[in-house]
Amino acid sequence: MKRTKKNAPVSRSGRFTAGPGADVAQFTESVSFDWRLGRHDIMGSMAHAMMLQHAGVLTRREQLAICRTLDSISQEIRDGKFRWKRELEDVHMNIEAELTRRVHAGAKLHTGRSRNDQVAVTMRLWLREEIFTLAEELGLLQRALVGLGERNADVIIPGYTHLQRAQPVYFAHHLLAYAEMFKRDRQRLGDCYFRMNVCPLGSGAIAGSTLPLDRELVARLLLFTDLKGKPRVTQNSMDAVSDRDFVVEFCAAAALLAVHLSRLAEDMILWATREFNFIKIDDAYTTGSSLMPQKKNPDVAELVRGKTGRVIGNLVALLTLLKGLPMTYNRDLQEDKERLFDTADTVRASARLMTAMLRHTSVNKEACRAAASDPALLATDLADYLVRKGVPFRKAHHAVGAVVAQAERANKPLNRLTVAELRSVDKNFGADAPAVFNLEKAMAQRKMTGAPSGKEVRKQLDRWRKTFAKLD
Ligand code: ARG
Repeated sequence: MKRTKKNAPVSRSGRFTAGPGADVAQFTESVSFDWRLGRHDIMGSMAHAMMLQHAGVLTRREQLAICRTLDSISQEIRDGKFRWKRELEDVHMNIEAELTRRVHAGAKLHTGRSRNDQVAVTMRLWLREEIFTLAEELGLLQRALVGLGERNADVIIPGYTHLQRAQPVYFAHHLLAYAEMFKRDRQRLGDCYFRMNVCPLGSGAIAGSTLPLDRELVARLLLFTDLKGKPRVTQNSMDAVSDRDFVVEFCAAAALLAVHLSRLAEDMILWATREFNFIKIDDAYTTGSSLMPQKKNPDVAELVRGKTGRVIGNLVALLTLLKGLPMTYNRDLQEDKERLFDTADTVRASARLMTAMLRHTSVNKEACRAAASDPALLATDLADYLVRKGVPFRKAHHAVGAVVAQAERANKPLNRLTVAELRSVDKNFGADAPAVFNLEKAMAQRKMTGAPSGKEVRKQLDRWRKTFAKLD
């Protein structure tokens, strides 16, 4: 691009004698990625135009011409027909330039507005929609977890701590742990939405406007309202144009969500190994190896886990971007978009793929049963047996430790020790002690709220079903 005045974007007209050099234009443009904000930029502009009519800046005819043209531009964007021009820098200038080319009065639209408050409102509008879509996606993910749990309601697996077999749990109980995590993720997104849903338009470049703008009207038109329908507008113009808390908050909530998805992915990867063999992930969500014909690799789960790295990275990039920025708007802030878009796209796709994969996962009941019938999983129950006989828990723990060691020495599973062998460690073991190793009975005893008895897990599954029904 030559440095001629003709190439100069609106932001350089008047003050500058020539447009930027090609390298500068390429370095500073953002339309190659912020074009995604087009529809939302137009929503903001339409509300602004209506307000300008109210304030007497635009006639009704002018306002209508502007809004109609913006509407057709919006449709062209949606249909991929709008021609974005890099030399016009960003989404806002592209749309305004095209509007003004088609409608004379378009040149009045930027009255009392700066790109600084314009981009702030546009991003909020974009993110509001994104949060809705993501929250919906999480709802489907929770349903998939509950569905897989329900289809395998009788399956018991070992629960692990330190990746060592710990105590038996229902498979559904393990899945519902994730449903709880995703519930908190949804709540966090809701909090973020609430704090973000405040209108910054009217803040101008930094210090508002000398014109009689009606900020509340714009806020109402764009649904920046509280539960009672009262408009919510930002209370400090400097804060409003430089605040990107909402982007950070979303990316932080998304990073935690990605971490939860990653842990679930990791569990599935482990469960799908020959060593565990608890589940079978449908072929559609796995790939083969180019070299080893026997391989079936859980690539989708691995990528869900792997992509978490970039989502965490995006959060760190944003915090680093903001740290040390002097008030108020600085062009650095343009760097927020790709991080935000990437985070939103990545977590949405990961959640969606995880949902699909869960729907196409089956459980190998025999392998689960075999693993869960390891009597060592009930060593704590044996200690609880002694506690019921009045032995202090520390002593009981010690005694069962000795019993475990004895079984190891005798090379027998824990439940094969005779009552006499048990009594040689502690006289409080009675004839009923071996009954402790009845897995079904052991599970039934874990019946407190949040514990994994069959009855409690069923109750939790039903509770989730009811929550879903309320949302439908
Ligand atoms: N593309 C810019 C951004 O994303 C819009 C705001 C530009 N404002 C300015 N004063 N140059 O931040």
